[in-house]
Amino acid sequence: MIEARGLTKRYGELTALDGVTFSVEPGEVVGFLGPNGAGKTTTMRILTGFLPASDGSASIAGHDIFSAPIEARRAVGYLPESPPVYPEMVVQSYLHYVTKIKDVPRAERAASVDRALERCGLGDVRRRVIGTLSKGYRQRVGLAQAIVHDPPVLILDEPTVGLDPIQIREIRNLVSTLASERPGESARTVILSTHILPEVEALCQRVMIINGGRKVVDSPLEELRAGGSLEEIFTRETARDTTDAGSDETAEGAA
Ligand SMILES: Nc1ncnc2c1ncn2[C@@H]1O[C@H](COP(=O)(O)OP(=O)(O)OP(=O)(O)O)[C@@H](O)[C@H]1O
Ligand SMILES: [Mg+2]
Repeated sequence: MIEARGLTKRYGELTALDGVTFSVEPGEVVGFLGPNGAGKTTTMRILTGFLPASDGSASIAGHDIFSAPIEARRAVGYLPESPPVYPEMVVQSYLHYVTKIKDVPRAERAASVDRALERCGLGDVRRRVIGTLSKGYRQRVGLAQAIVHDPPVLILDEPTVGLDPIQIREIRNLVSTLASERPGESARTVILSTHILPEVEALCQRVMIINGGRKVVDSPLEELRAGGSLEEIFTRETARDTTDAGSDETAEGAA
């Protein structure tokens, strides 16, 4: 469902992503781990068509992200690290606007919005202005925009970051529901990044760890557990020094 071959991203001197290859089967929920600056967001932005790769290739649901970018983007729902939620917009108008961008046929837009509102628990706030919602509810709006066109693949960049423990649990349950059900279709394929290791244990069947732009672990969670706790494995596999040499963010937008 997701294939990545030799994905590489260079920012000037810095190689943020260095030949990352993996494939994710339909219905799999994969936890994407790595220390700050490891390349998780970079990988996700490439897979979702927001960032060109310097080298390598990838496909989503059989659509090559470079030669068939429109089809590939249609097959994926993306919750970015900082969701581009428009604070002045009303929840349901925003979702309706997203259905237009995502080419949902006109006749299906209202039903798509209703379905996303319902599944993300947003029914009661559908007429609220997004900027007046709590952070947890704004995160639900972010998830609703990711699923509103009913994509087979979800790519979620730190879906529970910055939330209180109760909201974390609620969003985690929501992600679990969204992963397992898709009306009339098979389960969704999900890649989610997080720094919360119990989140991986709660949601994922498989774990990928990247460090300094290279994949260092790719294994079913059960197999990993046989070799120690996830925390031990994470600590061991990311011990190599990869100080964030590229933390000078002035090169924003460089290809
Ligand atoms: N626009 C850019 N220009 C230059 N360097 C960049 C740019 N965007 C990202 N980088 C660098 O690429 C590397 C990978 O960053 P990325 O955001 O993918 O890491 P991450 O794994 O998502 O980290 P975090 O856990 O902090 O979100 C980092 O060294 C980062 O500083
Ligand atoms: Mg990131």
